Amino acid sequence: MKFDSLSPLGDEQLTPVVAALRQCVYDLSALHAAIYVAHRNVKGPGAESFHRFFGEVAAVVFGHVDTLDERITQLGEQSDATVEQVAKATTLPKYDAAIVDGMKHCRALVEMFRTANETLHSARDIADDNGDQNTFDDLVQASKDLEKYGTRIGNHLVSG
Ligand SMILES: [Fe+2]
Repeated sequence: MKFDSLSPLGDEQLTPVVAALRQCVYDLSALHAAIYVAHRNVKGPGAESFHRFFGEVAAVVFGHVDTLDERITQLGEQSDATVEQVAKATTLPKYDAAIVDGMKHCRALVEMFRTANETLHSARDIADDNGDQNTFDDLVQASKDLEKYGTRIGNHLVSG
């Protein structure tokens, strides 16, 4: 169902923006779920700090899921981000729930951050091309946080 939007942009601009936002919501939702699996399953050296850190990062990612999905409703459409739809439509790989070691979680998560950030970048360009600077701004904030926290997760994998 379509609702009125306060955005002055027309359907021609909003339709591609909403489609791009939906893909971001699917990928960030899948990312959020994966980080939580890591948060719960991590054991071994540094387990307690990984547990806390992954919990903190999951909360940041969830904040962006909510912002971007609400943005869809501000543009006059409805959220369809059920778990079934997320599982069907995400471009992220399935998270390996058998991982235990913190470093292995970091390695798997960095790749997921990379893929999700590519989705955000494409959506950001679509918002820009269609003159939706407000959506663009939300996507920039989300991408900045993915780069910030994805880098911090990746820092665990660097030596020398
Ligand atoms: Fe927890």
